[in-house]
Amino acid sequence: MVRISIRAVYVACAAMLGTMATSARAQPAGASDGPRVDADRVEARILSLSEFGRNPEGGVSRVAFSEADIEGRAYVMSLMREAGLEVRVDPAGNIIGRREGTDASLPPILFGSHIDSVPFGGNYDGDVGVIAAIECAQVLHEHGIQTRHPMEVVVFSDEESGLTGSRALVGELGEGALSERTHSGLTRREGIRAIGGDPDRLAEVKRAPGQIAAFMELHIEQGGSLDKAGVDIGVVEGIVGIEWWDVTIEGTANHAGTTPMGSRNDALLAAARYVQAVNEEVTSEPGRQVGTVGQISADPGAHNVIPGRVHTSLEIRDLSREVIWSLFERIEARAAAIAEETGTTFTFTLLDVSSIPATMNEVVRSVISDAADALGLSWLSMPSGAGHDAQDMARIAPTGMLFVPSRDGISHSPREFTTKDDMANGAEVLLRSLLAIDAGALE
Ligand code: GLV
Ligand code: MN
Ligand code: MN
Repeated sequence: MVRISIRAVYVACAAMLGTMATSARAQPAGASDGPRVDADRVEARILSLSEFGRNPEGGVSRVAFSEADIEGRAYVMSLMREAGLEVRVDPAGNIIGRREGTDASLPPILFGSHIDSVPFGGNYDGDVGVIAAIECAQVLHEHGIQTRHPMEVVVFSDEESGLTGSRALVGELGEGALSERTHSGLTRREGIRAIGGDPDRLAEVKRAPGQIAAFMELHIEQGGSLDKAGVDIGVVEGIVGIEWWDVTIEGTANHAGTTPMGSRNDALLAAARYVQAVNEEVTSEPGRQVGTVGQISADPGAHNVIPGRVHTSLEIRDLSREVIWSLFERIEARAAAIAEETGTTFTFTLLDVSSIPATMNEVVRSVISDAADALGLSWLSMPSGAGHDAQDMARIAPTGMLFVPSRDGISHSPREFTTKDDMANGAEVLLRSLLAIDAGALE
């Protein structure tokens, strides 16, 4: 059975995509050596996991700490046990499945992703990385392969609303984040308890540099570069930083019929100008920076009342923290001018969910591209515009991340899709990379 898709590499987008391996190779002699992942099993498990929190559009609404998350986690733990892993839930709610190595003096190699979703999300974001990681562990188990390092499959808790599990691993899950309310309706503190963690024992979760030999995460690209270029694997160079703000605009609620247009302090009008201003500031200079206003609600919310208060948001992402903060300062200045024009006030509250930009380890990047080459898969180097737990892990361990194509670049949507072959290719590259690291690639 041939599962490796060797796609023609379409070079036209090379400039946009960064470094690119432009050869579509014939399968090298060594490509069929060694244990192989089971593509059908990977796909079947992705489909089974998508039953937990299924939404009418065919994706999942499996927000962290919800019933669906709890059920999905139980399913994933059952798969981990089937793969011969010793499973536990750490105090931050991360699921860890461990397999001992032959050298007790070595720290573990960690690999995994997350299974929580955004509201109305898809079936592949995070899930592919988790199911592929379990597949790698299962292949080692079934073939009786003994690694030198202990191997730990990790399913991070609550990735989508603030990289909760990985922040705990780096020792930075603080009071602010714990008391924030999440999409589940629970605060993070309550949520962590609901999934079997203990927020009062987070100190036990922290791992210091040197305590993890390497971390690897396979993920869907969530953008369209690989799909458009017909390339199998993305080797991630770096991951963007992300900052979130809650934004409140205060105006004056008043009668919509009797208040002349010139005498209003309309908070929603101010919000409309603010949304436009965010877009103008972010696009005013070249670069890959992005800014989004993704939430909005107006009070009191009636046809015949001028909105007196608006709750809205701001998200800014870039590979540089400086760019994020200088954009924020410009947006804040624009908001001050809008407030002046509309007789309103703006308050920006920074949320305790910062993701710090991270560069992936160069050796791990070569390990990934070498594995792709050995399997006859095409690959290219690229940045990640999405946030990932790998960016926290990069602060305490040599970290690498690889992408597989997302059809039409769609993600955070029920229309998210990745083919069976692409998932299997990613799992295969992950497995080879883990074995290369275990064999000493980083030593
Ligand atoms: C995580 O999925 C993100 O929002 O980038
Ligand atoms: Mn994800
Ligand atoms: Mn996501």
